[in-house]
Amino acid sequence: MYGDDIASVLITEEQIAAKTQELAELIAKRYPADAPEGDLLLVGVLKGAIFFMTDLAKALPIPTQMEFMAVSSYGSSTSSSGVVRIMKDLDKDIAGRNVLIVEDIIDSGLTLSWLKRNLSTRNPASLEVVTLLRKPDALRTHVDVAHVGFDIPNEFVVGYGLDYAERYRDLPYIGTLDPKVYGGS
Ligand code: XMP
Ligand code: MG
Repeated sequence: MYGDDIASVLITEEQIAAKTQELAELIAKRYPADAPEGDLLLVGVLKGAIFFMTDLAKALPIPTQMEFMAVSSYGSSTSSSGVVRIMKDLDKDIAGRNVLIVEDIIDSGLTLSWLKRNLSTRNPASLEVVTLLRKPDALRTHVDVAHVGFDIPNEFVVGYGLDYAERYRDLPYIGTLDPKVYGGS
């Protein structure tokens, strides 16, 4: 539906669904269903993590609650500045809660490492991260991530929540974008 903008399908809808199920089972084992900290609090990072967040919540066999944050480090360019701005903060206090940050993708790791530091100052009972995608070759800082769906090559990807200039989020799979779209060759 986007013509030939998508150069290749990197991860299919079926692969995403199977991996989400697998991650959900691993995550559920770490949190007792009736923990004194209350239900596991999923903190989704808007907008990229929306599909993963909702699919993961449905797959998790334990009760969860959802909060969202929006941070910006990108504009519409394709490389991280490391400068993070909170566009939308959490609505609720997370002190004493088990918190799981749900991310779409870790590229340089700069956004996530900033976010982890920020949330940890709010004194959650625990703070872990699950990300659907990670680009190991792009990492510029160490950040502890409990659960990773797929390690992918260092290429710009779109779909399943991920965008380029707000387009392509609605694709049900993860694909690579033809460089002609962002002015490459
Ligand atoms: P860093 O570099 O701080 O960046 O780990 C994380 C955020 O950057 C966005 N990002 C991407 N978005 N395709 C996208 O659509 C990509 O290949 C890509 N790489 C990074 C994303 O918002 C992520 O949370
Ligand atoms: Mg993101």
